[in-house]
Amino acid sequence: MTTQPAPTRIAMRDELYNQYSFIQNAAMRAGLNLIPDFSHKQELAAIDYGCSQGSNSVEPMQKTISTLPQGASAHLVFQDTPYNDFASLNRTVDEHFSPEKAPKDVLVTLHIVPVSFYRQVMPTAFADIGFSWSSLNYLEFPLNVQLDATMSPQDIATARHDAVAGAGAADLVKLLRLRAREIKAGGYFVAAIGGQKPEAGSDTLEPSDPGVQPMQAGLMKMVALGKLTMPELMQTVLFPSHDRTVEEVKAGLDAVSDLWHVEHVEPKLIVHPAYETYQASDKSPEALRKYASDCMVNMVSSSGWFWVDAMKGSRGPEWDGGDAFLDELTKYMIDAFVEKCPDLKFQIWSIMRAPAPPPPPHPPPPPPDDRRNKATNARYASTSRR
Ligand SMILES: C[S@@+](CC[C@H](N)C(=O)[O-])C[C@H]1O[C@@H](n2cnc3c(N)ncnc32)[C@H](O)[C@@H]1O
Repeated sequence: MTTQPAPTRIAMRDELYNQYSFIQNAAMRAGLNLIPDFSHKQELAAIDYGCSQGSNSVEPMQKTISTLPQGASAHLVFQDTPYNDFASLNRTVDEHFSPEKAPKDVLVTLHIVPVSFYRQVMPTAFADIGFSWSSLNYLEFPLNVQLDATMSPQDIATARHDAVAGAGAADLVKLLRLRAREIKAGGYFVAAIGGQKPEAGSDTLEPSDPGVQPMQAGLMKMVALGKLTMPELMQTVLFPSHDRTVEEVKAGLDAVSDLWHVEHVEPKLIVHPAYETYQASDKSPEALRKYASDCMVNMVSSSGWFWVDAMKGSRGPEWDGGDAFLDELTKYMIDAFVEKCPDLKFQIWSIMRAPAPPPPPHPPPPPPDDRRNKATNARYASTSRR
């Protein structure tokens, strides 16, 4: 009998992520216009898959309920892994959707679900719309790659690529099939998925640059100071995420064409908001340091948990130097940014998918695997339930 590995343990950095997830906020905002109008609905359920600490769920949820008619009711579901910082999420949700804060003319009911999105997280045909912002690139299982100290950077990159491409393809299909259970036929699934620069026109398109160079310089400094070992450094390349190509996203969507209708998929280059602020500034050393800091703290708030986990793997689960390690590392990353790459344009490619208008009402859903509903026409960058 083969045994499955344990799923990956994913969690953004406690408390800090909400405050510093600037580039994820920009990716979400680039997809807000894809949220459809629900003015015909008296009852609505919306789910944000992989909501983290909630700050980037607020606007999509608010926009969704703002389209409802007076007297409507809305279930808002906030979902993330059991390892998420739910204390921060609870505070965010309460701050924006408590009875005092929610719109007076819509009855809002809140649900917080600590279950991996690689499982069915809500009852079948529960939701009218699902969102997922910068989350679907995370893989279900840790990467199965054997690394050893003699490997060249190129060999490591190839081994990583081979491992993530297969997992990324299988995981996307699994995610879309699961969401087709929870989201009603005719419902919507809007997602911004971390991706790669499109092949077409790639000569003229700028690549993603999520600040890998200053990050690596910071990590190497920690190695030089004896605060990170080489084997621990090598583990950091096993980050359990895959930035898919547009073709890979399309292949995943083709594989579930019995369940989802897609009009098109649109890659968008998301520039870190701090870059624009820096460009508009006097470009003083202080302004550069602020830009570098906003980018590097953003990166550590969303990736640092993995480095700390890798270190716990070698130092033991009781090792509690993670916060001090990340604070020191962040400082060296900012220094490297300022000193070695002051012209870095922090930006990522994101692939937007979104819904189509719903098909006519359909009878109660048959068991998940047998569901076949009518296709509809779709609009801009779209996915709707068949
Ligand atoms: C980069 S954050 C994005 C958070 C938020 N959607 C935003 O736009 O700021 C990725 C989120 O996906 C969540 N995530 C990753 N794998 C997951 C899984 N299997 N189930 C649920 N959430 C997951 C992470 O815990 C994290 O909160």
